[in-house]
Amino acid sequence: MELNLTDVDAIIDHWGPKPDSLLQIMLDINHRFRFLPRESMERVAERLRMPVSQVFGVANFFKVFRLKPQGRVLVHVCTGTACHVKGTPRLLDRIQQDLHLRPGDTTEDLSLTLETVNCVGACASAPVVVVDGVTYGQATPTEISQLAKKLMETNKA
Ligand code: FES
Repeated sequence: MELNLTDVDAIIDHWGPKPDSLLQIMLDINHRFRFLPRESMERVAERLRMPVSQVFGVANFFKVFRLKPQGRVLVHVCTGTACHVKGTPRLLDRIQQDLHLRPGDTTEDLSLTLETVNCVGACASAPVVVVDGVTYGQATPTEISQLAKKLMETNKA
């Protein structure tokens, strides 16, 4: 992926190239690219005149920042206790078997990212899968595998 540093510079200019703006700049870059590209962090360090290790340190400290590209669709499989008992391991096994995706993986074409989450507050509907904020309850391995396949097809670049 070729990074457009013009966009990064515009974000830095918007907040001002000063250390106090670091967090807001990083949040905006993370939002713009759906992760923090290495080159963007190097540019931020250069323009804010701070060590690049400090920028990477902030990126690693806060969970909100993503260091790897994220797919256009985000699938969260709940691994909380209720969902685990009701079948999350079978859902994840099926997704891995059918789509070769494990939690934390993103498809090569960036159509989809698979992640796990600990309880989304819908335990009565366990096992639960959340796709871009939409909750699917009583999810079966077949349904979720088919849904993920469809999402990958419809969100290809
Ligand atoms: S454990 Fe999955 S929603 Fe609560």
